[in-house]
Amino acid sequence: MPEKIDVPFPHYRCGECGRELPLTDARLTVTCDQHQPGRADVAVEVRPATRNDQHDIEDICDQALGETEVDVFGRSFDVLKQENLVAVSEGRFAGLISLAVDGGDLAIVLLSVYPDFQGYGVGRALVAAAVENAASRGLPAVKVGISNDDIPSFSFYQRCGFVIESVARGLLADKYGSAEPGFSGIPVRDEMRLRRSVGPA
Ligand SMILES: CC(C)(COP(=O)(O)OP(=O)(O)OC[C@H]1O[C@@H](n2cnc3c(N)ncnc32)[C@H](O)[C@@H]1OP(=O)(O)O)[C@@H](O)C(=O)NCCC(=O)NCCS
Repeated sequence: MPEKIDVPFPHYRCGECGRELPLTDARLTVTCDQHQPGRADVAVEVRPATRNDQHDIEDICDQALGETEVDVFGRSFDVLKQENLVAVSEGRFAGLISLAVDGGDLAIVLLSVYPDFQGYGVGRALVAAAVENAASRGLPAVKVGISNDDIPSFSFYQRCGFVIESVARGLLADKYGSAEPGFSGIPVRDEMRLRRSVGPA
């Protein structure tokens, strides 16, 4: 029986009216860098998760995925059992990066920034911490798997120095039994795998 895709929300916030958006309702717009939604980078602290963060980690997984299990790179990962780094900004839990060693690289199992904090450099700070983490363990690279519809992440990771490594064509459509609408209504079909060495981007 194919797994049914639920579309949890809100993932994003409209830069014009502030409405919270499920993935399928989000649309892209092109601006100059001065007029991107968000503001100057906010102060953000990235630190290893502690036991006290468990509830916040469950909450962000619930909002981003509806669960704590993530299937990527042909494996299933429970976020709660991985190495997690959390971003705290203005005294609030702003985002999470969940990491696991896979195939000799450090894999990003999940990266999620709450809509209130998107566009302020929180995601970049979490990725920078993951790169440092990989380097300190002597791992050569950080990798991530994203779905083909996830244009914000595709843009984000390339801005953070990642390049396409491979595409598992049809993997997600096969898994779910059909190509369901994802970000902006784009059919979800493929897992795109990107990688960034731990050297300078
Ligand atoms: C993709 C995601 C990780 C980006 O995090 P972020 O903190 O907003 O990103 P940053 O502010 O650090 O941006 C870093 C770079 O990525 C680019 N980028 C970020 N979001 C982008 C978007 N939506 N579209 C295009 N480019 C984007 C920025 O332009 C920036 O590059 P620049 O500074 O060189 O111009 C974040 O939007 C996210 O978590 N999305 C998934 C949905 C989700 O999980 N929602 C929250 C919980 S439900």
